[in-house]
Amino acid sequence: MQIRGKNILVIGGAGFIGSFVVAELLKEGAGKVIIYDNFARGKHENIAESLKDERCTIFPLGGEVRDTDVLDEAMKGVDYVFHLAAMWLLHCKDFPRTAFDVNIAGTFNVLEACVRNNIKKLIYSSSASVYGDAVEVPMSEEHPFNNKNFYGATKIAGEAMCTAYNDRYGLSVIGLRYMNVYGPGQDQHAVYSGVVPIMLNKIDANESPTINGDGSQAYDFIYVEDVAKSNVAALKSDTKFGYYNVGTGVQTTIKTLCDTILKLKSSALKVNYKPYSADDARALVKNRIGSTQKAESEIGFKYQYGLEEGLMRLIEWRKKAGIGK
Ligand SMILES: NC(=O)c1ccc[n+]([C@@H]2O[C@H](COP(=O)([O-])OP(=O)(O)OC[C@H]3O[C@@H](n4cnc5c(N)ncnc54)[C@H](O)[C@@H]3O)[C@@H](O)[C@H]2O)c1
Repeated sequence: MQIRGKNILVIGGAGFIGSFVVAELLKEGAGKVIIYDNFARGKHENIAESLKDERCTIFPLGGEVRDTDVLDEAMKGVDYVFHLAAMWLLHCKDFPRTAFDVNIAGTFNVLEACVRNNIKKLIYSSSASVYGDAVEVPMSEEHPFNNKNFYGATKIAGEAMCTAYNDRYGLSVIGLRYMNVYGPGQDQHAVYSGVVPIMLNKIDANESPTINGDGSQAYDFIYVEDVAKSNVAALKSDTKFGYYNVGTGVQTTIKTLCDTILKLKSSALKVNYKPYSADDARALVKNRIGSTQKAESEIGFKYQYGLEEGLMRLIEWRKKAGIGK
């Protein structure tokens, strides 16, 4: 698919990953990039740079995925849609009903509006959460859906509806299962923050970073700009339907992550180990690394930034933003 000159709606475009998708689409020569976001977690500062480009606008009539008529209006004259709006993991745990309304009903609304407006391709942000605990490392896209939490359940439901819309209406849709994403623009202080900002905040406050368990739990950390590029690759590829892991395939334990951050910060702080809470011990996924093969061969996506380089970029951004040292 061609991006140059095309009109593209980015739902959740003011968020952490969405704002990078917006920037990539502008670089790729999109005709118009319209941001659709209710700013529940999105921020104006994430998109300030992109909005300087006259091709980029915020949809003026609203940006809520639960408003079907507004969503329908926003898709008028649009060629492609990226759907990244969602409530995040821990938020879903605390507010399952809202998680249902936003992540499941909201995705249904997006699909319905896509069909009504003859959208040529939809790129749906799924998550590696669909897999739950690993029975194989790295996980291929055929890995069983072992997820047990509300967030993962909403992503499984989202994918199932994408599949049904593809089958019933021929809607072109690619679902991307992101591994652990980190980088500039991620909320560094929210209660619902990821492990990387939490560790950086501790170290910047000159406090020992804390690791739950023995630190052997391992994940696949991918830099946000790479994730945005996977979205662009999915759109550009000739592939009309499918689900793909978006990761590096590199297994990083939490202990290694912590040691790497301490090294990059030239910090001599000692790591604090604490036992898992009963809830985490039961529910936390402890080993999730994605195979990158299918995304490489079918949509031509391969990551560019290794962990150290990505972390360095994040640390630089935090300094400039006045968040870290
Ligand atoms: N960050 C990760 O590590 C990660 C991993 C796997 C999957 N994902 C998925 O990627 C997508 C983007 O994640 P992110 O990290 O950028 O999160 P984010 O919270 O920064 O971005 C989501 C955006 O959606 C918006 N939004 C939320 N509810 C909305 C609603 N009801 N209507 C309209 N807009 C709404 C928010 O304001 C925000 O700008 C999400 O679907 C998320 O589930 C993220």
